[in-house]
Amino acid sequence: MSHFTEPMLREGSLKDKVIVVTGGGTGLGKSMTRYFLQLGAKVVISSRKPDVLEQTAAELRAETGGEVLAVACDVRNYEQVESMIAQTLGAFGQMNVLVNNAAGNFISPTERLSARAFDTVVDIVLKGSYYCALEAGKHWIGAKQPGNILSIVTTYAWTGSGYVVPSACGKAGVLALTRSLAVEWGKYGIRCNAIAPGPFPTPGAWDRLFPEPLRKKFSPEMKVPVGRVGNHQELANLAAYLVSDFSAFVNGEVVTIDGGEWLKGAGEFSYLEALDNATWDMLATMMKK
Ligand code: HXC
Ligand code: NAP
Repeated sequence: MSHFTEPMLREGSLKDKVIVVTGGGTGLGKSMTRYFLQLGAKVVISSRKPDVLEQTAAELRAETGGEVLAVACDVRNYEQVESMIAQTLGAFGQMNVLVNNAAGNFISPTERLSARAFDTVVDIVLKGSYYCALEAGKHWIGAKQPGNILSIVTTYAWTGSGYVVPSACGKAGVLALTRSLAVEWGKYGIRCNAIAPGPFPTPGAWDRLFPEPLRKKFSPEMKVPVGRVGNHQELANLAAYLVSDFSAFVNGEVVTIDGGEWLKGAGEFSYLEALDNATWDMLATMMKK
């Protein structure tokens, strides 16, 4: 029996934590928030759209009985980031974890992008993550408190990828930020880690990256060795572990959760999976000769 769709950590594992999740109103941010609340954390969800945030906050409050606060904040604006963290401290008296989850992305040949389109994605992904990390880090270091930053990147943060080049540049920067600060701020008790998810169905990603006409032809699970896309609970389980104290010695790590997808893309001979047994028999006879 497979347990990946079930909650993993024991009850109360996050009960002393105040967690800020950027982009927490939708998609994977919402799923992580739900699980953090179930584990006893208090969560601030933030993004640009207050109505979406309030709706999610009300839904998750009703579902989990947890404390969740919606704070509108465009992560590209440092003053709004300062205000979002100040509101977190005002409401809950502390902040223990930052989850850099907000992102912008769309597919396009790079030469079709305007400079503003490129800026828009890099600003949300990279500038947004370092603005939030900077403000959170200043707070923790000033208050002599430990902290924890978890950033959601992607596997093309290190491979790169055509057709999503601003996102690849931004995510590569977030990975560099994670590894750099893990070392520099370790002495303050601040840990920095990242998760690199493969395909996890969300409206935000699917509408922009796998639009309907492409979905039939290039179905995302075809590229995944384990033959399926990700389930939100298995990502939430990993995120909960990394924001909890169970992972206290994990620092500067990026954990891939993609069913082997990126390695399959990189493997020289991955294409041989298309061969059936009869073809292998024929090849073996031929080659042994
Ligand atoms: C080319 C585009 C475009 C497109 C926008 N632009 N969409 N160019 N192709 N599809 C251009 C616009 O023309 C404009 O440039 C500039 O980008 C800014 O557009 P705005 O609409 O004004 O920006 P904004 O309202 O800030 O919206 C940001 C956004 C939007 C990124 C464009 O998609 C958004 O809000 N995204 C948030 C959620 C999201 O992207 N989620 C997916 C994450 S998935 P000009 O020059 O015309 O002014 C992900 C997963 C990766 O990251 C891995 C998957 C396996
Ligand atoms: P999503 O639902 O579209 O999430 C993106 C979130 O970012 C939205 O809630 C959006 O809310 C917020 N956001 C965008 N611009 C913002 C800004 N300027 N300031 C503040 N918030 C902003 O997509 P998702 O699939 O859940 O993605 C979540 C994370 O997982 C992203 O980092 C993404 O790169 C990563 N990821 C996803 C997949 C996947 O398959 N789904 C794979 C790899 C990595 P507003 O519009 O309200 O601002």
